[in-house]
Amino acid sequence: MSEQKYKKAFIFLDTDKHASPFDMLLTLDLYPDSAIWKYENVTVEDAERLIYDIIFPRGPKGIKHTKIFINGRDMELTNEILRKIKKCMFPPFELSVIIDPRGAYTTASALVAKTLELSMSKNLGDLEDKRVTVLAGTGPVGRTAAMLYASEKAEVTITSRSLKRAEGLSEKINRELDEERVFAAEADTPEKIGETIRNAEIIASTGAAGVQLLPISILKEYGKKCKIVADVNAVPPPGIEGLKSSADGDEVLPGIFGIGALAIGKLKNKTEAELIRRAAEEPKGIFDYKVAYKIAKEIIMEKSSKI
Ligand SMILES: NC(=O)c1ccc[n+]([C@@H]2O[C@H](COP(=O)([O-])OP(=O)(O)OC[C@H]3O[C@@H](n4cnc5c(N)ncnc54)[C@H](OP(=O)(O)O)[C@@H]3O)[C@@H](O)[C@H]2O)c1
Repeated sequence: MSEQKYKKAFIFLDTDKHASPFDMLLTLDLYPDSAIWKYENVTVEDAERLIYDIIFPRGPKGIKHTKIFINGRDMELTNEILRKIKKCMFPPFELSVIIDPRGAYTTASALVAKTLELSMSKNLGDLEDKRVTVLAGTGPVGRTAAMLYASEKAEVTITSRSLKRAEGLSEKINRELDEERVFAAEADTPEKIGETIRNAEIIASTGAAGVQLLPISILKEYGKKCKIVADVNAVPPPGIEGLKSSADGDEVLPGIFGIGALAIGKLKNKTEAELIRRAAEEPKGIFDYKVAYKIAKEIIMEKSSKI
């Protein structure tokens, strides 16, 4: 009897009202013959009910071809869903789970990897002990970037219009890393933002779409130690004035080099595609921000070894 063939199935569990078409389209182009479907407004209770109907029907052989993608703007909720799913799976009913809340993990991975790449190419060394300011670092992209910079042993300052919000986050990251690497600063005016970049060698702007956080005059006045600026906001105006979204190592001010949102977006897309590919090819595992960052670094290292 010939062995049963299994089609790849990607099941999107999205905590938002409308599941993001971005990740489903990316998956479709990678696996045009796969089956893709979505559940929206997913809660932890929904995930617990759905997971058993996902892991059992295809048996221990078929489950290797079923993949889950957890998505949604609410990072806490997506992570709670991940915890629940992990708890519900047991051998041999285990599968690959991707988590990338509204692209935050792959975007932050690309942002941090791009600044590392630029730092190395300018002979400034790696990220260890670098002073990094993550502007408006309280959103999903900023907090993941802060976590990744801190895990590279950089000294990180997260800014926010609310000191309480930034403090809550920095304390959480320090607890997770069991190290005091992340600090909080209130910055609700350009001058206060200026104070938070006084010592920064790297400035990563992670504010909401279309919000300018750092005027070029403030960068000029306060950013005397700054060598690298990066911005993930692709919607005009840019988060950092004078930094073009297409910039990829271009000089923004004398001695300050910049990476814009489109250059980061290119690496983000490559990273996400590889994250999906790995999850699709592996029978099981969790494909989260740690894996995404590893992939982003591998891509930049591979690129630099070819130069
Ligand atoms: N290139 C890509 O592929 C890609 C993918 C995903 C996201 N993105 C971009 O990445 C950026 C960050 O995404 P996100 O989802 O993490 O952002 P977000 O949650 O929408 O916003 C990040 C932070 O911006 C601050 N903020 C919001 N409105 C503001 C205002 N009017 N003035 C000053 N600060 C304001 C808030 O911080 P406080 O309230 O604490 O001050 C907020 O926590 C966005 O620009 C997004 O478009 C890019």
